[in-house]
Amino acid sequence: MMNRIYLDYSATTPPDPQVVEAMVAVFGSSFGNASSVHSFGREARTILEQSRDRVAHWIGARSDEVFFTSGGTEADNHAVKGLALAGAKIGKNEIIVSAVEHHAVLEPAESLRKAGFNVKLLPVDGFGQVDPDRVKRAITPKTALISLMLANNEVGSINKIDEMSAIARDSGIAFHSDTVQAMGKIKVDVNKLGLDVLSISAHKFYGPKGIGAIYIRKGTRIEPFMEGGSQESNRRAGTENVPLAAGFAKAAELAEARSNEDYQKILDLRKKMLARLSEEFTGLLMNGHPTERLPHILSVSFDSSVTPLDGDAIIMGLDLEGVAVTSGSACTSGSLQASHVLLAMGRDERTARATVRFSLGRYTTEEEINFAADALKRVVERVAKAGTGR
Ligand SMILES: Cc1ncc(COP(=O)(O)O)c(C=O)c1O
Repeated sequence: MMNRIYLDYSATTPPDPQVVEAMVAVFGSSFGNASSVHSFGREARTILEQSRDRVAHWIGARSDEVFFTSGGTEADNHAVKGLALAGAKIGKNEIIVSAVEHHAVLEPAESLRKAGFNVKLLPVDGFGQVDPDRVKRAITPKTALISLMLANNEVGSINKIDEMSAIARDSGIAFHSDTVQAMGKIKVDVNKLGLDVLSISAHKFYGPKGIGAIYIRKGTRIEPFMEGGSQESNRRAGTENVPLAAGFAKAAELAEARSNEDYQKILDLRKKMLARLSEEFTGLLMNGHPTERLPHILSVSFDSSVTPLDGDAIIMGLDLEGVAVTSGSACTSGSLQASHVLLAMGRDERTARATVRFSLGRYTTEEEINFAADALKRVVERVAKAGTGR
């Protein structure tokens, strides 16, 4: 079989073998319902609470402020809708989000707009960052919540969250941050960042898919997300997934122990890769902030005024070469659209579509990035020759 190279760690990561081991152990033996009062239930409950303690410790929170969810999307939905609905109860009907948030924030915001909320979409600069002054100017007495991501999943730029959460706090407004992409890459501490609510997804840092968490600071007004049971302190009804929680906790433990080592290794590889690509291609633009960024994401666009190329043909070509990456476009109802993030950053539509996002991880090697750079060269030559530039 052809050698396959995975450079899409922002989409998901392979579970660490120790994570799999931790989950299998629980799947196999502790099947009780964590809400049952008998010994089987108590055994499952102990594992669940130990897992919660581990996740809470990682983000500097108290255990009773961490609630398991089905992943990042649910945590984001819970945050945005739950804070907005709680705000509405005290006459606040305005929400502030940025134009480059993940769809898991943007779409609930859109639903709220349809339900009568006033949604303010903050623009970003050319690096994809939100200006704290804009946040200050957007606030009114009607603002129920502000939701701004810590780091962007497409380009990697990091926002000044501590500054912006302080602005929210001064005005008594709840502040949520989607920290899904940043977890395990940079230190995330709810107190240092000044967060009221935060979203986590385990599969972004070598944990299992289908589990995440929402952190809710004590005293935050937020409506529950799921009804029909008293699990997760009445915030998220439904029988808890204990094996996945155990895997999540193991992944958090490993991320905490390895983050410095992983950071440096991945950063060095990304720098090498950018240097290689800059040497090979003229008209190559790097997306995102040059230094205020996550270590693992390298998003590059081919400038349409220099080399008009079809980004999707590049992604497919790379896949045929065995290299798995993501493009700068998303499939929405069957048609490929340029990324809302790149457009908000000011890239033109054709350039935005001619984008490749490489994302590196714990298992990435220098041989892999060299192979990927060589493959990109072959593919770009083929795409350019075939005249599929659009
Ligand atoms: C920034 C960000 N938010 C939310 C999500 C959604 O997380 P999940 O896949 O766990 O639903 C992702 C994953 O793509 C993400 O990158």
